[in-house]
Amino acid sequence: MQALGQKNAKPKPPIYDEESREGLRRAGRFNGQLLDFVRPHVKAGVTTLELDRLCYEYTMDHGHIPACLGYKGYPNTICTSVNEVVCHGIPNNTPLREGDIVNVDVTTIVDGWHGDSSETFLIEPVTEDARRLVQAAFDSMHVGIDAIHPFGKLTEIGRAIERFARLRGYAVVQEYQGHGLGREFHQEPGIPHYVPKLNPSQVILEPGMCFTVEPMINTGTWRTMLDKRDKWTVRTMDLSLSAQFEHTILVTDAGPEILTTTEHGPKTGHKF
Ligand code: MF3
Ligand code: CO
Ligand code: CO
Repeated sequence: MQALGQKNAKPKPPIYDEESREGLRRAGRFNGQLLDFVRPHVKAGVTTLELDRLCYEYTMDHGHIPACLGYKGYPNTICTSVNEVVCHGIPNNTPLREGDIVNVDVTTIVDGWHGDSSETFLIEPVTEDARRLVQAAFDSMHVGIDAIHPFGKLTEIGRAIERFARLRGYAVVQEYQGHGLGREFHQEPGIPHYVPKLNPSQVILEPGMCFTVEPMINTGTWRTMLDKRDKWTVRTMDLSLSAQFEHTILVTDAGPEILTTTEHGPKTGHKF
């Protein structure tokens, strides 16, 4: 996710040509493959550091680059955000336990192009409250993706997500948002998962734009706090549960193309 900055002049989001789109497709495809690879390992008893090592080795073995490692000083390959952690959780030595929900967020650079996606996993058995939240986070991502139309408004994505989450009784995180990506990890356009009251984006979605949709949905307050010690881990202010899913999307003449689909992961309509 991209933290909201105070930049005033926003560069125009890049429009990718067919050759660049192929690069983005390859990066997205590998990133989805990486989630497929790690999925069977996300079980009670495994530590998030073990998941991190598995992802590091899989990425390197395929000749690609873990985008997070060293990014703005980030210490690991993946982000693992457990329960009340909203995003940017640093892998550690604590084994996952039954009842946990954990978001695994992976980003890879393939031949200079970025792919970025994440899933929240249920360490079964989980409470019905947790399952319902994860379902809402997944469905809200797809509701947001479905709001993408060539030459439509960028703000429709956040509008759809916010409306959906509210109807289910949840709050949408505002301080972190989706982002354009390509040769850079985080670039224009920013994709808020709600409709900002102040300065909503004027961007029109054009074929050839590429960005993530990655709503973070909370059972309690939308407000978050940054861990004072590690300066990465973001938690809900009230320590209520948070869940998230992420895909990288290419806008095409035919509509949104999901670049990070997985073979074995949840597809739209999936029931957790
Ligand atoms: N993958 C995250 C995103 O969706 C970003 C993680 S940045 C890191 O944008 F430095 F924490 F890895
Ligand atoms: Co992202
Ligand atoms: Co990500």
